[in-house]
Amino acid sequence: MLKDKKIVIGVAGGIAAYKVVTLVSRLVQAGAEVRVVMTEAATKLVSPLLFKEISGRPVACDMWAGNDEFNVEHVALGRWADLMVVAPATANIIGKMANGIADDLLSTTLMACDKPKIVCPAMNSNMLANPAVVRNLETLRQDGIVIMPSASGHLACGVDGSGRLPEPEEIKSFIDYFLAQREGDLRGIRILVTAGGTREPIDPVRFIGNRSSGKMGYAIARDAVRRGADVILVSGPTALRHPDHVRFIQVESTEEMMDACLKVYPDVDAVVKAAAVADYRPHERAAQKIKKNDENLILALDKTQDILKRLGQEKRQQFLVGFAAETQNLMRNAAEKVRKKNLDMIVANDVTQAGAGFSTDTNIVKFLFPDGTVRELGIMPKEEVGNLILDIVRDHVGKNRK
Ligand code: CTP
Repeated sequence: MLKDKKIVIGVAGGIAAYKVVTLVSRLVQAGAEVRVVMTEAATKLVSPLLFKEISGRPVACDMWAGNDEFNVEHVALGRWADLMVVAPATANIIGKMANGIADDLLSTTLMACDKPKIVCPAMNSNMLANPAVVRNLETLRQDGIVIMPSASGHLACGVDGSGRLPEPEEIKSFIDYFLAQREGDLRGIRILVTAGGTREPIDPVRFIGNRSSGKMGYAIARDAVRRGADVILVSGPTALRHPDHVRFIQVESTEEMMDACLKVYPDVDAVVKAAAVADYRPHERAAQKIKKNDENLILALDKTQDILKRLGQEKRQQFLVGFAAETQNLMRNAAEKVRKKNLDMIVANDVTQAGAGFSTDTNIVKFLFPDGTVRELGIMPKEEVGNLILDIVRDHVGKNRK
């Protein structure tokens, strides 16, 4: 979303201004065009020259300096921008914005700009909690300005508390998410993604699990967020960090995954069921660790409930995507699952192929639809498979809404 976006970064005079150098660098690396406007106080903390070198563009600091590039600079900058971000936003600039004061280049640019604005407050915790600042932030919210919550941690004034400027990577991700929610092709679409494998407890220390890494489901969730969807990620245990901006629900057993899915199911537009769900679970869960003896151990197993089948039975508006991991008779088994589980699409993969299956970063899949249509894809990264699935979700949900 950041590619070719024109972003004006307003830097006010807070100590965290140094972090914004990295933010500008990250935004430029992501393909954004960045122009920096600094208050006079900010120039005492970080040299405008540094921002100029990092952004590759002149830095605007002085109302009265004159600018060869722009006529009436504060108006022109606001017109040029697709988005303005104030970071760090001090109590002073927040106060000016909330009360219509425009007395330097940054505050006049903010006043003249009618594009979306994000404000990232950063200051001492007492200042942040001051009723005037709280009131001013509320005014900004009511004016439609987006406030990125400040982080907690060690502050330059020596205390631990809230008021830290979030890390550059977090601010970048926040901006990206904000843009995706406004412009992404999946905006307004709610998607439930399940990922990872479920675990069925045998005793307090053992379980029945499977080889699922969660990579496919996490890739789909990440891309769906990047494209503006509201994503709920229900996941069994994995070694992965979940993507930002998803509603993350951690589960362990099939039963927990079923409960989590059923709870959110009525409100979603699509389900992508990438999780590898256990088909059987121990008949009994031993209360204590099962001790070894000289005999062999036979575990009695009960069938678990089929989550996807249940979702298929209760389907209303939802577009239902299942996965079929097979080691033989790929298309016959996949077609059978589409029919039995009332799916709108299945992603079939033969996990015995090199480059396909559980722990790899690539996959080789075929899409199969209820009318028998098949779309065959070559080997490709899991992200790419995910994006193709999401293209189909977008087209179907869009059609349903018309
Ligand atoms: N699935 C599910 N609940 C289960 C088992 C599977 O929701 N108890 C879902 C999986 O998330 C996947 C699809 O059903 O999207 C197919 O899973 P798969 O393991 O390939 O097939 P099964 O239906 O379990 O049948 P089999 O193991 O015999 O191939």
